[in-house]
Amino acid sequence: MTVLEIRKYGDPILRERARTVTVFDEKLARLAADMMATMEAANGVGLAGNQVGVLERVFVADMAGFELSGKKIAVVNPEIVFRSPEESVEEEGCLSIPGVYAEVRRPKKIRLAGQNLKGEKMELEAEDMAARVFCHETDHLNGVLFIDHLTALERDLLKGKLAEMRRKAAAL
Ligand code: NI
Repeated sequence: MTVLEIRKYGDPILRERARTVTVFDEKLARLAADMMATMEAANGVGLAGNQVGVLERVFVADMAGFELSGKKIAVVNPEIVFRSPEESVEEEGCLSIPGVYAEVRRPKKIRLAGQNLKGEKMELEAEDMAARVFCHETDHLNGVLFIDHLTALERDLLKGKLAEMRRKAAAL
């Protein structure tokens, strides 16, 4: 397994929409294993394809401590097929936006449809933190970051930090 480089805010790949996976082969399994190793090395709870420079609709999540406890899972072609009207607000961060945390409003419960690494269909129900992680990672595959969910005022407070990250990215 290889620990991959995590792309940081300001990298345009984080704003792209990842492509639907149609081939479920060794290469896909290796990508998921590498993503899990990368997530673990970074102490993250989720990681999406874009974040390691791969525009394929795959994310991994570490459900330790959540209701699917102890499980590391890979979801291919994820889609949120149900969002509860009830919402919850909790602080979020992102491995691609280090040092930035903000409260984000998300549905309290969701249903996630997708496929496993063999291409078999799966559906997961999740609530609270697990639902939040699934929403956050699915967003990544659509080029959406958690800061996009903030109000203009909330984003304004982070403006300095974000501008600095964009400058750093542009200088690479
Ligand atoms: Ni993230």
